[in-house]
Order: sequence, then C-alpha cells, then structure tokens
Amino acid sequence: MKFEIQKSKLDNVGAETLVVFVSKKSEKKDKKNGKNGGRTAVIEGLSRALTPKLETAADEGVLTGANAESVFFRDSGVAGARHILAVGLGDAKALDHEVLRQAAATALGALKAQKVRSVAVALDTLPHNDLTADVMTQALTEGFLLANYSFQDFKEKKSDSKEGVERVALITATKSKTYEQGVERGMIIAESVNFVRRLGDRPGNKMTPTMLAEEAVRVAKGTKLDVDVWDSKQIKAEKMGSFLSVSLGSSEEPRFIAMKYNGAGKSKKPICFVGKGLTFDSGGISIKPSAGMEEMKYDMCGGAAVIGAMLAIARLKLKVNAIAFVPATENMPGPSAVKPGDIVTARNGKTIEVNNTDAEGRLILADALVWASEQDPQWIVDAATLTGAMGIALGNLHTGYYCRNDKFVQKIAAASEASGEWTWRLPLVDFHVKDMRGTYADLSNTGAKGREAGSATATAFLEQFVGKDIPWAHFDIAGTAWHTGDRLPYCPRKGASGVMVRTFVQLAMDAE
Ligand code: BES
Ligand code: ZN
Ligand code: ZN
Repeated sequence: MKFEIQKSKLDNVGAETLVVFVSKKSEKKDKKNGKNGGRTAVIEGLSRALTPKLETAADEGVLTGANAESVFFRDSGVAGARHILAVGLGDAKALDHEVLRQAAATALGALKAQKVRSVAVALDTLPHNDLTADVMTQALTEGFLLANYSFQDFKEKKSDSKEGVERVALITATKSKTYEQGVERGMIIAESVNFVRRLGDRPGNKMTPTMLAEEAVRVAKGTKLDVDVWDSKQIKAEKMGSFLSVSLGSSEEPRFIAMKYNGAGKSKKPICFVGKGLTFDSGGISIKPSAGMEEMKYDMCGGAAVIGAMLAIARLKLKVNAIAFVPATENMPGPSAVKPGDIVTARNGKTIEVNNTDAEGRLILADALVWASEQDPQWIVDAATLTGAMGIALGNLHTGYYCRNDKFVQKIAAASEASGEWTWRLPLVDFHVKDMRGTYADLSNTGAKGREAGSATATAFLEQFVGKDIPWAHFDIAGTAWHTGDRLPYCPRKGASGVMVRTFVQLAMDAE
C-alpha cells in the first residue's frame, strides 16, 4: 500500500474512489428552507458537485455520521471520482486520532469489499478539530496499514493481499510538509506493528528462540541498530541462572537478544526496553491444560513488541539512545526440565524457589531486568504476557501496568494518550512483595496468596531485580496481545495485536 499527499480541490479529484468523512453534530438545521430539519449528519468541506448526492442520503437517513458507518455510492460519477465512500466519525466534538485510526480501518473494510484498488481520501471533509495535520495523517496511515495486515505465511492460496487497496492519496487543498511527516511516521510505526504481529502469529516451530533472534538481526540491516545474540553458554557465563532454568526442558537453545541504537550523544543515558520472548509456553512440568494451549505461541509478544519498537525508533532516526533486551526460550517439560521446588540463582545473586514451572515469564525477565539495570538506563519499561490474571482483570482493551514512580506514570499516561493504546495503572504495594518471599530460598516464583492479585504479585517479584532508583514500569499484555479485533477494527480478529509498540515508540519520541 502506497501513500501520497495530493494537493487538490474536491471538484475534480480524478480517483477511482473518493472517501469523504461524515460526522454528527446536533441541531444543525437549515433555517432557510427547513429542508434537512432534524438531520444530524454533517459533511464539511464538500464540493458543490458532491453535496446533493450526500445530502439526499443524509436526508433519507441512510447517512447519519455514526461511528463505524460506511455508505458506498457505486458509479456515482461526481467530482471526478467513479465511486464515493462516506465514512462516519461519530460526534464531531469527540473526534480524536483514535477515531480516525478506526475510521480508516472501517474505510478499508468497505473498499476491499468493493474491490477498490486506488483511493483518494478527502482530508478537508474532516470536521474542524484541534488535531494537528501530522497527527491526523499519522492516524489515518496507521489505520489503513494496520487494518490491511493479514497472516497468510502458511497458506498456499493467499487471499486479499494481492487484490487489496494499492494506492492511498490523501487529498487536501492546502498541502504542507506536516501532512507528509505524519504519513511517514504512521508508515514506520504501522509497519513495525505488523512485523511484530507476524512474529507473534508464527507458531512455536516456526518462531523458535533462534528464529526470533535471526529476525531481530534481519530487520536491523540497513538501520543504525546493533544486535548482539547470546547462546546458552554465554547466558550461563553471565550467571543468568533463572533465565537458563526455564530453557532446560526444551531441545531448543535459548537466546538472549540485545539491541542497541545510538541516536544521541554519549552523555545521554539510554532508555531501555525489556520483553518476554517465550516462544512456546507449555507450562513445563506444571503443564498447562491442553485446551487452548496452542495460544501459548503468543507468549513472545512482549519480546516481539520490544524488537518492533526498536526497529521503529531506528527507522524514525529518533535522537535518543535506546537499548532492548529479550530473553527468548521455550518452556517445555523435557527430561532436564526445572522441577517444582527446584532452587535457581539469578544474576543478582537472589535465590528463587520454582514452585510452579508455569510461572516462567518472571524467571526469564528477572535476569534480563538485572542486566538492563546494570546499563545505567534513564528508565526501563518491560512488556510481557505474564499472567492470566491480567486478562481476567482488564480484558482485551486495556493493558494494565505497574509503576511506583509517579513522575514516570505521568510520562506513560501522556504517551499512551498520544499513541491511542489504552493502558491502566494498577496498584503495587509492599504487601505484594511480602507475598513473594520463599520458604527455602529468597523468593518464590508463586505468591503466598495463590491467584489473588496474581499480576501484582508477579510484578512484585520482578521488582526484586530492578535497580533501586531506576524508574521502571511493567506492562502485562496477557489480555491485549492477541484477539483484539472484536473491539478494534484495525486489529485482526484472530491473531497478534502488536500492542505496546506504539506507546513505546511514543515514549522514545517524548525522551528526545
Ligand atoms: N504465559 C502465561 C500467562 C498467560 C496466560 C498469558 C493466559 C496469556 C493468557 C504465564 O507464563 C503463566 O502461565 N502464568 C501463570 C502464573 C501462575 C502459575 C502463578 C498464570 O497466569 O496462570
Ligand atoms: Zn507459563
Ligand atoms: Zn508464559
């Protein structure tokens, strides 16, 4: 899909299909003739050629401007466009970038259904709003590209991909550089999200720890990203006994993936990302029930998100220093597997009783967080499909996060607001830390209170491995990393969502 900004009036755009936006505004009545009395649909910036066609549809109640509404006028023959697609935005006052992202996805669905290949989008039909030109075009670009994702790597006959929309021209009467900047940013971010989704959607045998590391190396080519990959020998030599213990039951080698990007002066402390790269979680000896176990191929989505965020940061050439660490392994019940009750030692010397081998995410993140803390970062954020409890608590719309640093929370809230990814802060207190004390070792990998506040106690465990004064936030994406398309039209119904890439990239932009 190719994007361009085109300076043009709406009288004669010369497009196969022209997309116009329709919003809702209360009490907009034509006082002169009362013709459209009661109609709430409002279309701004329309040309004279287009107006009658759309107004008739609005008068007849077909076009209301409701959110997610789309009305296709086939062979309309007006304004130099063969077809017209009207897309609803909901209340004009509530328009924000997320509404646009979703509207672009709605548009793409309708365009695909009509087998449209080339489209012009009338930016000037957006209602007057506070959004800047680049935020607008970024959101639309993201919406189109994210909605266009489909995972067909293992299908002989691929549907859609060759037949979909090829060209998107964003039309405005006042072309400016800012519009282009938004498109460029939106493209880089959405392509990174789609890359992350692909990693997540690949099954365990096609996305082993080795393959995940190879993907990180592959995408880094042509960018300023440095990638360093450790094998089990190096992981052992670096005293990452907690991480290593999870890999023992698998015949697949673990990998520790380290990515580095230097976009700022040496004196600037790096921002740091850590992600859980569990390429398949069977639960290990504490094996999971078989129903739904196939979904545990997504247990590396946190690691993938971090790799994708680094890719976007490098492609955007942000003026920051950034580092990322992804411990990658399978969790399997092979003959050498770690057993319930085993005691392992993490890089910081803390001993851990492995009371449930299925609570393995925290074991691999522990060593990665120690390593990250040693790099003297500005702050650390991690993403992990860590606990089923998070899915139960917040469902698939909000990513729950924990952070004890109020100032950092403000930054996160601002980044999440700007990215459009919904996040929600949850409480972490010293009682949760107490719950994670071990009986025979310093720590236990399961909470004394069983499943109660399971996401919080898991976070309290992780906290034991983060440097004391480093601002740190843990994002549990167990509920939001896949199958979010029933809520968000630009996400696949089934499959990885690529969540956290957008917010992590925004955090990096804000750190410039
Ligand atoms: N990968 C799972 C968490 C998970 C579960 C993610 C369901 C997405 C959907 C994690 O490794 C795990 O199994 N956690 C256990 C921890 C428990 C044993 C303390 C859990 O949440 O049940
Ligand atoms: Zn597990
Ligand atoms: Zn897991």
